[in-house]
Parts: sequence; structure tokens; C-alpha cells
Amino acid sequence: MKTVLETMDLKMVYHVGKVDVPALRGLNVSVGAGEYVAIMGPSGCGKSTFLHIVGGMLQPTSGRVLIDGEDLTVMSDKERTDLRRRKIGFVFQRFNLFPTLTAEGNLKLAERIYSNGSNGGDSARRHEVLKLLRLENKIHHKPLELSGGEQQRVAIARAIINRPAILLADEPTGNLDSENSQIVLDMMRGLNNEFRQTIIMITHNPEAAARADRVIEMRDGHVVEPEQVREETHR
Ligand SMILES: Nc1ncnc2c1ncn2[C@@H]1O[C@H](COP(=O)(O)OP(=O)(O)O)[C@@H](O)[C@H]1O
Ligand SMILES: [Mg+2]
Repeated sequence: MKTVLETMDLKMVYHVGKVDVPALRGLNVSVGAGEYVAIMGPSGCGKSTFLHIVGGMLQPTSGRVLIDGEDLTVMSDKERTDLRRRKIGFVFQRFNLFPTLTAEGNLKLAERIYSNGSNGGDSARRHEVLKLLRLENKIHHKPLELSGGEQQRVAIARAIINRPAILLADEPTGNLDSENSQIVLDMMRGLNNEFRQTIIMITHNPEAAARADRVIEMRDGHVVEPEQVREETHR
């Protein structure tokens, strides 16, 4: 299997005033193309920090991050932004849709950013992706005219419109009721099954994690090996 993400001894220290806050303490993670990986771990263990670094939104203190063989950590800000636009789709807990734009408008904006404003996007692709997320009747709705579950599905549609190598999701069901969570998880599962979309999803929910192919457990800025997880839960 081709490796689409590899981190080597990834470290992140935040500086808050004079205090150093270590968030990642040497993380080694490898994800193959077409894998669906869940990341679990207690609040504050560094999950979001990890995802933001992988998504090119945050520079680590040290270590390497290879996306499709390209090293994010040696790039200029512009190169990293460019890689993010080409390779990464991001889904947030709070949807983060543009409130004055319709579902289709939000997708169009993502296409425009991807192409640096050089074209008006691909209407057939937009309709295909909205149909995939079962939003064909909501194309002209604005976020406030949609339920939370529908808003998150628009956010997923937006994240995959440009066919990213990796879909990153930070607690995508964190603001949804259980019914809408199930629908969103079913759709993420479907994206992986049908299109081999590589997905890395942070979740607190063991049921959500169980829908992935593999679970990476984090504690205190480290990856916990599977044997350690078993020992801790059996203690
Ligand atoms: N922007 C920031 N500035 C300072 N400290 C931060 C910042 N973001 C996160 N942290 C700290 O880094 C650690 C890891 O946070 P985070 O990656 O958000 O964990 P998780 O997503 O697992 O809850 C925590 O101690 C948190 O307080
Ligand atoms: Mg978090």
C-alpha cells in the first residue's frame, strides 16, 4: 500500500507567555492510501494539534511530515498553503460554512480557492458531490436553512470537491445528535468504501472509531501502542 501520510518524530511546543506547553512529544504515524483511520485519546493529548499540522495549518516545532512524499516542514508558507489546497480536505466540528452562501456557493468558493480564482469550477462535479451526500434538494439552501447534520454533509461535500488525497475530520459528529451522527458516519464509510478516500478522523466516540479500519490511540502527545491500550483498559 502506498503511504500517503508519514510523520517522523513530530514535536510541537506552544509558547504561552513564558510557559512552554508541549503538545506533541515525538509522534510517528504512517497512513496508507485508502485507509480510514480514527484517532482517539483524552482531551488535551494533542489530537487537534496533530491534525492541524498534517493539514498544513500549523508549523511543528520539529520533526517531519510527508504528504504524498512531499515534506511540509521544509516548505515556505506559500508552498505549504498550496499543498494544503491540492491535497487536503478538512471537516471541523463546527461546520465552518460561509453563512451567506448556499450549499452550492460554499462548494464553488472551495473550487475557486483551489484554482486560485482561475475558473468558475465544475457544476457537474458540484452536483455529483452534493448528490453523494444526499443533498440534491438542498443545493440552494444557506447554512441556517439546514439542520446540523445537513450542514456537516455540506462541509464534507466541500472538503472532497477537489478530490483531496486526505480527508481530515476533527470530531465531525461532535455537534450532532445520534441520528445525524450515524448518517454522517455512514457517508464517510461510503466515501472510503466506494472511492478509497483516505480519511483521518478524530473522535471521542468509541462507536464512531469502530467504523474506521484502524484506531490510533494517543496519550500526552504520544501514540500508545495497542498492547499498552489493552493493559490500561484491563487494569
Ligand atoms: N493555540 C494554543 N496555544 C497554546 N496551547 C495550546 C494551543 N492549542 C492547544 N494547546 C495545548 O496543547 C495541548 C494539546 O491540545 P489539543 O491538540 O487541542 O488536544 P486535543 O485535540 O487532543 O484535545 C493542550 O495542553 C492544549 O491546552
Ligand atoms: Mg481537539
